[in-house]
Amino acid sequence: MKPLSSLFLPLSLFLSLFFHGSKGQNLIQNTCKSCSKDDPNIKYEFCTSSIQAAPASQCATLRGLGMISIRLIRYNVTDTRCHSCLSDCLELYSDAIPSIKLAMKSYNSKKYYDANIQISSVMDAATTCEDGFKDKDGVVSPVTKLNENTFQLSAMALSLMNLIKNNNNTTTNG
Ligand SMILES: *[C@@H]1O[C@H](CO)[C@@H](O)[C@H](O)[C@H]1NC(C)=O
Ligand SMILES: *[C@@H]1O[C@H](CO)[C@@H](O)[C@H](O)[C@H]1NC(C)=O
Ligand SMILES: *[C@@H]1O[C@H](CO)[C@@H](O)[C@H](O)[C@H]1NC(C)=O
Repeated sequence: MKPLSSLFLPLSLFLSLFFHGSKGQNLIQNTCKSCSKDDPNIKYEFCTSSIQAAPASQCATLRGLGMISIRLIRYNVTDTRCHSCLSDCLELYSDAIPSIKLAMKSYNSKKYYDANIQISSVMDAATTCEDGFKDKDGVVSPVTKLNENTFQLSAMALSLMNLIKNNNNTTTNG
């Protein structure tokens, strides 16, 4: 029986890893599909690649995916604050950092209405910062990419919260 059992262990390990992995993949893909349908600002590719790059996203629940997107907003907002030289953006992003921290707290205590307002204000900061550069001829925003990330990640977080609130137990497992 020895040869048989030594064959079974790796096989069952392989199968459980495979199914576990594919379940997480499916949740990410289905969620990103719903989000990009819900809001045309959310690109499916951006959504899946952002989430997949985050640690432990493969075993996250829907609520976990929401937290992942809010955490990514926080990193981008912090990075923008550090790179931004335009005084308007500096100010905007000084407000955005406490806002995104509050949004994390609200989200953790399932206060989605509050989290929605806080994330929306961060989204506005990204838009206002970017518009400030458009008004200045010949000045290229050094933080365009970060503003775009923040904008789209915020749209994702808002859309995810809608999914969570309307969770009707068919498309989701968290
Ligand atoms: C900002 O968001 C993008 C897209 O999700 C992500 O790949 C990147 O790592 C984030 N930036 C930082 C500084 O974490
Ligand atoms: C669940 O949500 C989907 C998509 O929004 C909707 O089409 C479906 O009717 C809902 N099911 C229930 C039982 O509410
Ligand atoms: C979804 O599941 C939760 C908890 O299992 C339950 O309380 C809720 O009634 C369910 N909603 C629907 C629409 O079936």
